[in-house]
Amino acid sequence: AERTYIMVKPDGVQRGLVGNIISRFEKRGYQLCGLKMRTASRELLEEHYGDLKSKPFFPGLVNFMMSGPVVSMVWQGKDVVKQGRSMLGETDPLKSKPGSIRGDFCIDMGKNVCHGSDSVDTANEEIKMWFKDDEVMDYKLTAYKDIYE
Ligand code: GTP
Ligand code: MG
Repeated sequence: AERTYIMVKPDGVQRGLVGNIISRFEKRGYQLCGLKMRTASRELLEEHYGDLKSKPFFPGLVNFMMSGPVVSMVWQGKDVVKQGRSMLGETDPLKSKPGSIRGDFCIDMGKNVCHGSDSVDTANEEIKMWFKDDEVMDYKLTAYKDIYE
């Protein structure tokens, strides 16, 4: 089954948005397969944001992401990578539609509350970076038949 890596960033944790963000994915019908909180190391964040190393905002981004705990999640279900990005909204909160997480909860790009993997391949890499194998659960949702036709 398809899986994605969703993370509530330090600003989202501080602003008490963890429950709301989890709830949106649960209510949509996605299955939670991994969940943990921690303050990430510089090393992990530099790997996570490796493709942005040359950007002027990179040092500030990494420092911000290390500034407090984040909540890491693995979500599973049909088309969850693309649907997860759509539930998050655009990178720039001002371009995000109301009804999306960023469109409902934030204003600035550097304080955009959450992260979502941008492709199936990236998702698998990010899940490996942020979780040990035995921290990702394999189980069958009993509500499965009420979510999928
Ligand atoms: P993520 O889901 O967090 O990966 O966001 P994204 O995929 O929509 O954007 P991208 O991977 O390109 O950038 C990662 C993060 O860097 C964004 O979520 C922003 O927090 C930050 N970022 C990206 N572009 C800018 C920018 O131009 N200025 C600032 N200040 N931050 C940026
Ligand atoms: Mg990204």
